[in-house]
Amino acid sequence: MMSDAEVPGLEPLRAWFASYCDSFRSADPEQQRNFDLKEKHTRNVCLAARRIAQGESPRFCTLAEVAAVCHDLGRFPQFRDYHTFKDSDSVNHAHLSAQVVKQRALLDFLPREEREAVEIAVRLHNAFEVPAGLPPETEKLLRLLRDADKLDIWRVFIEYFETPEEERPSAAGLGFPDLPGCSPEVMDAVRKGKMVHLSSLRSLNDFKLLQLSWIYDINFVSTLRLIRERGVLEQFAAILPADEAVADVLAQVRGYLERRLKEGAGAA
Ligand SMILES: [Fe+2]
Repeated sequence: MMSDAEVPGLEPLRAWFASYCDSFRSADPEQQRNFDLKEKHTRNVCLAARRIAQGESPRFCTLAEVAAVCHDLGRFPQFRDYHTFKDSDSVNHAHLSAQVVKQRALLDFLPREEREAVEIAVRLHNAFEVPAGLPPETEKLLRLLRDADKLDIWRVFIEYFETPEEERPSAAGLGFPDLPGCSPEVMDAVRKGKMVHLSSLRSLNDFKLLQLSWIYDINFVSTLRLIRERGVLEQFAAILPADEAVADVLAQVRGYLERRLKEGAGAA
């Protein structure tokens, strides 16, 4: 489906993204922090997407970056109009991103098949699961985008806790109360290797566990290597409550990561 030719429209798309971010500038520093967060996030997802795609065709690498530039465009109008990044309290930001892509005709430089693949990846990047029945290259693009996105959401999330409270981008914690301990059902799910549903959360600690459970949803071995390289598990250990039950959950997740890395050692 995809040739190895370079995509001539990537550079204009990057430039367009910069002007798109500028168009949301706010005089309110608190609002601007939330827009800045998504601008930086998008740039990092672009870098991560390229890194994960290393070894794939140059064409696929470029498409991965195109999808990354577009994936969170909806975050900007979402925050401007609803002052939250919580989709369940506002709109599905991924659907909104896909809408912006279409309305602004951002992908007209791509052949139809590639355009559709990117649009689907953007629209489904936040879905709980990857649906069955997608064309193989579309599915691969979607899986890569989801990996790249998670890698940088972890970075955003960890930095949030390292930032003094008054300087934090307010919407990054999704408004969960900072209660002590973790909910037993959430702990249980992660211990059993399951992904946690956002609707089951009661506290910020639960939200940390939900993000940790994303490791079970990582697709590419190259992403798993980056997780180990960046010490993502160690960073989560540092922000979670230091008790035995949590240590047990972390050990489970570490075991899973190591198993997958070992299995994937022979693969690309
Ligand atoms: Fe997103």
